[in-house]
Amino acid sequence: MDIQQPLSLLGGLTPAQFMRRHWQKKPLLVRQAIPQFSPPVQRAELFALAAHEGVESRLVQRVKGAWKLRHGPFSRRALPSLQQPDWTLLVQGVDLHNDAVHALLQQFRFVPDARLDDLMISYASPDGGVGPHFDSYDVFLLQAHGQRRWRIGRQKDLTLRDGLPLKVLENFEPEEEYVLEPGDMLYLPPRYAHDGIAQGECMTYSIGFRAPARAELAQELMARLAEDAADDDNTPLYADAGQPAVPHAAAIPANLQDFARAALTRALAQPQALERALGEYLTEPKASVWFEPGDPGVMLEGVRLDRRTRMMYDAKHVFINGESYLAGGRDATLMRRLADERQLAARDLARASDDALELLSSWCDAGWAHTWSA
Ligand code: SIN
Ligand code: CO
Repeated sequence: MDIQQPLSLLGGLTPAQFMRRHWQKKPLLVRQAIPQFSPPVQRAELFALAAHEGVESRLVQRVKGAWKLRHGPFSRRALPSLQQPDWTLLVQGVDLHNDAVHALLQQFRFVPDARLDDLMISYASPDGGVGPHFDSYDVFLLQAHGQRRWRIGRQKDLTLRDGLPLKVLENFEPEEEYVLEPGDMLYLPPRYAHDGIAQGECMTYSIGFRAPARAELAQELMARLAEDAADDDNTPLYADAGQPAVPHAAAIPANLQDFARAALTRALAQPQALERALGEYLTEPKASVWFEPGDPGVMLEGVRLDRRTRMMYDAKHVFINGESYLAGGRDATLMRRLADERQLAARDLARASDDALELLSSWCDAGWAHTWSA
């Protein structure tokens, strides 16, 4: 993506300016971010998705002032009637199920893929909303259908109301208010308080991000490094030829502590071990994702990644759906292009090595990529 090109999506800012001025810092309201926006998912299609096992959905309702939360799947009959006010259906990860929604998400790839999470769609009946709250992640709230009144604020007091099934702020102090029309978009940094109330029937698309917590990263990476260590054949036993007799048998020897520390240091010090573990972790498909084995096809015209495939790279590796490959030279250039563009044209394939073609073909077999014509 050209990060110096002003975008109407960002209200005329370039991606570079947006990231510098707003990302993780301050909100941005963009009127007509997508002019004449024609939402790719209609109400009936959203309800059908919410009925699926393997699609994460939630229903938030306020009944006589009390907040209620239920988790899907929801049959159509399990949803309140359209005439009933004050309910919201939220469907997570719609980009995994719909090509047009996946394409819409691609417009936000001025943020690294490693940070992009999913596109959630909410449907609200009149007056529906999920209450004043804050999220831990950045979000772009794109109005898709109808109007929503957003009240937002910097909110110092993050106390939540007790005993509710969802996070609702105890003392919301809004500072600004906007009514969003279809095509309008509001960016909010993490922890910025917001409350969106549907003015009539309304659909909002949330472009959401992920940010690993330090503890989660440590846990994930150490688990992967531990697997590598278990594969290490050259693994000496602790030896203590110099161990003197001890008067206090229960005390752990300092030498054994040193040995343990050296074992961990060694696991971490393996060249590229950490980078490989990180790339594999970041490209792990979502738990609900299941690839259908593909048609081997012939890759004459080109190849494109499946919308559910996660592909990234670093200086030495290419990662795809939790697997890593060491790549260098022309093949690395080609695979990086595939990861960035999510497709390769016939002319790219014409220059690919046999090894690269074989790999691409195995990814097509696995359903991770598709030949152009498929
Ligand atoms: C919604 O779309 O109803 C909620 C989105 C949000 O507040 O994060
Ligand atoms: Co929110």
